[in-house]
Amino acid sequence: MAARGVGLLTRLPLHSQRRSRVQRSISRHLSCPGTVAANFGSEEQPSGGAETGSEDKTPKKRFSEVQKERREQAQRTVLIHCPNNINEKKFLKYLSQHGPINNHFFYESFGLYAVVEFCQKDSVNSLQNGTHTPNQRTEPAIPFKSRFLNLKLKNPSNQMPEQSYAQINNQSPPSSKKLFELLSYAESMDDQLNTLLKAFQLTEENVRLRHLTCSLIEDIAAAYFPGCVVRPFGSSVNTFGKLGCDLDMFLDLDEVGKLNVHKDAGNFSMEFQVKNVPSERIATQKILSVIGECLDNFGPGCVGVQKILNARCPLVRFSHQASGFQCDLTANNSIALKSSELLYIYGSLDLRVRALVFTVRCWARAHSLTSSIPGAWITNFSLTVMVIFFLQRRSPPILPTLDSLKSLAGAEDRCILDGNNCTFIQDVYKIKPSRNTETLELLLKEFFEYFGNFAFNKNSINIRQGREQNKPDSSPLYIQNPFETSLNISKNVSQSQLQKFVDLARDSAWILEQEDTGQPSPSSKRPWGLAALLLPPGVVHTSLSKKRKKPVSEKVKSLLASIKSSTTDTSKGTRGKRAISTQA
Ligand code: GTP
Ligand code: MG
Repeated sequence: MAARGVGLLTRLPLHSQRRSRVQRSISRHLSCPGTVAANFGSEEQPSGGAETGSEDKTPKKRFSEVQKERREQAQRTVLIHCPNNINEKKFLKYLSQHGPINNHFFYESFGLYAVVEFCQKDSVNSLQNGTHTPNQRTEPAIPFKSRFLNLKLKNPSNQMPEQSYAQINNQSPPSSKKLFELLSYAESMDDQLNTLLKAFQLTEENVRLRHLTCSLIEDIAAAYFPGCVVRPFGSSVNTFGKLGCDLDMFLDLDEVGKLNVHKDAGNFSMEFQVKNVPSERIATQKILSVIGECLDNFGPGCVGVQKILNARCPLVRFSHQASGFQCDLTANNSIALKSSELLYIYGSLDLRVRALVFTVRCWARAHSLTSSIPGAWITNFSLTVMVIFFLQRRSPPILPTLDSLKSLAGAEDRCILDGNNCTFIQDVYKIKPSRNTETLELLLKEFFEYFGNFAFNKNSINIRQGREQNKPDSSPLYIQNPFETSLNISKNVSQSQLQKFVDLARDSAWILEQEDTGQPSPSSKRPWGLAALLLPPGVVHTSLSKKRKKPVSEKVKSLLASIKSSTTDTSKGTRGKRAISTQA
């Protein structure tokens, strides 16, 4: 954590920068021993590593366990908009009259906010009972009681901010300048990939804020559907999320009206009167429509609400201004949550998986292969599945196929959703670690080479079986949906976007093959290794052009020609020898 207004770049690990001595001592003073979250903010790894146990000795928890703990933690937490000159110590003392505080942090997003986690849920009720609705003199307001609060100073002049300024937790990804600086200090390419992972992965605080935001939205949705649950999914929870990624959540109504007491004995059973609708889709649209209205009219901090109800997967999109998250709310999306769990398992199986996925995602973003706007481009989800597939294809494989994860499953893992078999083992300890010892540097180069030479024109990518299969239709890129196996998750990708991906993969493989991309002397300012790959095309080409005899395109052309000429029978082709074609 850096002091407000101070943007120093140091080579300290990022998680060390985030914590201040002041906050540590205050938190320790006020924390309640014995709670799960009491270790928050200790010198542990940021969330991705901490939750999967991939970077330290933390036990690898089951996805469902992590989600349950996070949800429970979020329910004990409040979000408070604070005056800029808040005195941290007095603030905590004031709040602790409602009960002990387990943890807290401050961040900035159009103002200063505090996330405060109490030890007990009752403290939140006590705080809410001591909170009043503002008397708006200028603009009328709709009264709404939530866990999103506003702190006012009664006597601002009496505050002595210089004695105890609030320490600010950074919620943004590093700037390009900072990233390149970090990469230039790395000792090897493997080190660079791990550095990039640490710089971009969601922090513990960011993960908490994501779960809190879902919990706040759940409170609003519960006005219509008491007992509903709003669950985060996608990159916020699958451990592949980059700082700044959107917040995907879905409204789960399965818990509503579930029998929790068994009073069903005898000759009678009672059920709720409900309204029938012609289809599941119409039900989803109706539900999302009223929730969208509710968020728009009464949701504190929810702005720019758009109801996108005619999409294949109807959704409500909005900005949660206080957290700074772009949110997509869907309904009945349990398969997407199961996909998130599957990615979580893959991410926790081997240390190299997340580093490689983050690198490929950043590479794709740097070269505008991906975008935050939906379109004909490849998505981060598809890229992640491609990396998983590639790692299944290594020899020996680094990741198991989905079918083998299914074969390891026990009765407790059985899961059928909308008629699709989504069963796989949930306990990562029951999966044998890989014997593959390849370096990240090699894997990255081979990834580019593999997909730079993939027969996209005839083959599909299938992580269920871990092998290429004939494409069932003429989509330029066919990646089988792991659970709804008749669907293609990259149906949206156009031929030109696929070609752009292939061209960049080939260029990148070529760049990594060049001997002069090894780490230069410390005095050299030349970007090397991963840094060279992440620079925009013009820049990287200039930086390498001094030593290059031919432009990239010519070099690549001759490289490809030599591969083509050495391959007469494409069906027998092995990696790097297959004929290159991206034509559908
Ligand atoms: P970010 O780009 O970091 O947001 O990655 P993400 O994984 O969160 O992707 P996105 O927000 O686009 O989608 C959220 C989740 O929805 C993904 O993780 C998948 O579980 C699921 N999803 C996205 N696209 C598809 C698709 O085309 N088919 C299916 N079945 N699921 C999808
Ligand atoms: Mg997302």
